[in-house]
Formats: sequence, C-alpha cells, structure tokens
Amino acid sequence: MNIIRRRGWEIPESQLTPEHLAFSRRSLLIGGASALALAPGAAYAQRASDAANLPDPNADLYPAKLNTKYPLDRPITDEKVNAAYNNFYEFNSTKDVAEQAQKLPIRPWMVKIDGMVEKPFEIGADELIRKIGIEERTYRHRCVEAWSMAIAWTGFPLSKLVEMAKPLGSAKYLHMETFNNPKVAPGLRQSWYPWPYVEGLTIAEATNDLAFIATGAYGHPMLKQHGAPLRLAVPWKYGFKSIKSIVRFSFVDKQPVGMWEKLQKTEYGFWANVNPEVPHPRWSQATEEIIGTGDRKPTLKFNGYGEFVADLYTGMEKERLWA
Ligand code: MTE
Repeated sequence: MNIIRRRGWEIPESQLTPEHLAFSRRSLLIGGASALALAPGAAYAQRASDAANLPDPNADLYPAKLNTKYPLDRPITDEKVNAAYNNFYEFNSTKDVAEQAQKLPIRPWMVKIDGMVEKPFEIGADELIRKIGIEERTYRHRCVEAWSMAIAWTGFPLSKLVEMAKPLGSAKYLHMETFNNPKVAPGLRQSWYPWPYVEGLTIAEATNDLAFIATGAYGHPMLKQHGAPLRLAVPWKYGFKSIKSIVRFSFVDKQPVGMWEKLQKTEYGFWANVNPEVPHPRWSQATEEIIGTGDRKPTLKFNGYGEFVADLYTGMEKERLWA
C-alpha cells in the first residue's frame, strides 16, 4: 500500500490561509494592543504599517545558489552605490528615491495573474517565491540614459511563472503592471504621466531563460528602491523594460504599450533592445558610464547577451527593434 507521509511544512493547499488573510490576521495580533488605544482611522494606519514591516518569511532562502550560466565581464556594482542611484518615477523623477521608497508596504503583496489563461488567480508574492524557489544570477543592467551597473539578482526565471499561469494558445504577449497607490508614492499624483507603469514582452521573450523575476539582490531580499517584492530583469533590453514592484501579469493578444511608449513613442518603443549603433534622440548609445567608477565602456549589441536572445528577432529586421 502507498502511504503518503507529509513532512511538517507540507500542509495541503486546502488548509493554507491565503497570504492577504494571514497577514491581516497577524498584523491584527501585532498591532492589536496599541491599536485599541487609537482612533479607528489611526488604528488602521497603524495595522497597515505593522503589516508592511512584518519579517520576510522567505528570508531563509537567501543567499541562493549562483547560476553560473551568465558570467559578468566587469565587477559587480557596489551595493551602496546601486541602492542610492535609482529610477522609480512613482516616488520621484530624480535618482534619489531610496528614502521615499521605504514607505511602500510590501507585505502582504497580492499578484494578479489573468487575461488569456486557463483560470485567472491571485497569489501572494511570498507564497509565489516559496513555491517556485530562487537562484542567484549576475546580470549587466543598461539604462537608455547611457549608464550601466552590474548586479547579483536573486529570483526565478519568468518562464516558471508563465508555466504556472497556463496561458491559452491565443495569448501572444505578457503585460505587466506596477502598483498604483498615490498615498504611498507621490509621483503617482503627477497626472501628466500615464500611470500605472506598464511594460510588456512577447511570450517568446518572457519564456527565454534570461527573462528573470528578481526578488532579491546582493544575497538578500530586494530593497524597496529596486522594486521589491517582484521586479523584472531583462538585461538585453534598456532598463525601462525592467518594471518594478509588479502587481499584475496579464496574458493578452495585443502588443502592450508601455508607460514610456505612451508618453513619448518617438523615444521609447516596445522592443527596446540595446544597440550601440542606434542612438536615442537624447543619448548616444555607443558607450555607457559604469556607475560608481566613472569609467566608460563601449556598449555591446543586446548588452552582450546576443548568443541567448538574438534568435528571438530573426526575420524581424523591419521592426523598430532598438529603442
Ligand atoms: N519600474 C517602475 N515601476 N517605475 C520606474 O520608474 N524605471 C525603469 C525601470 N523600472 C522604473 C521601473 C528604469 S528607467 C530603469 S533604468 C530601471 O527600472 C532602474 O532600476 P534600478 O533603479 O534598480 O537601477
């Protein structure tokens, strides 16, 4: 006879508490005593901030094992430098967003998976990370503003999420969306930006092994300014494609129009593959400044990842593949 023995942590799915309920319960317990003494609105705010500061239940997964398939040609950017030079327009349009980004509550963090899939569902980011598991990868990161860094991300291949979503054969693109809460991110009140931040990939790009959902960096869970708790890393494309703090993955049949493309389509296109020979209207792409060192280096086509991704674009020479 076949006896199934469950290990301690293997609870049947039916007995699992969905992440948003578990966190609101836990935060009630943590916030309970002090909340009693506060007015209802203040008590809610107190509970929300307690929940946001709950410890990461996946902290034990870091640092994860390094996948050596994608070696770097340069040193990893110092974490302090990287953590103080960020683009995150939901907070502000300077590189100095780290302090403001700390206000983003990231626990619980529900992610919607919908559109052309067998069955739409929602899942907590922590549960998703635990289910899929994580690894470390070192990637170059090239911004369209002609600067670059090198980062040790931790996370999982986007293809694993696509597999879990079970898209229908008719789905052609993956549309991704960032949170849109102007109460925590003041940049979202700037109505001239077409919020929310949206980006997209073809299904072939999303299932290429290089497309990565980063959940951490530098051997620990991701800092908020880098796009915690889930952020895309597609290193063969300009950095604006690597959307931060994702709340929704939708499978669609129409090419998604990214936020930057909506704002200024002559400057930012859908494909946005790195190419030193095709200048952006405001920045030559021939070289890049290595942030933290002051050095400049020649930029490589596909940011040096051509051997892994160039075949995604064969026969598409007429498309505007480069910015
Ligand atoms: N995602 C969101 N939601 N909001 C943003 O402003 N900026 C993009 C990209 N993802 C951005 C975003 C740009 S322009 C770049 S270069 C990278 O994030 C910057 O990532 P970093 O701050 O970790 O270097």
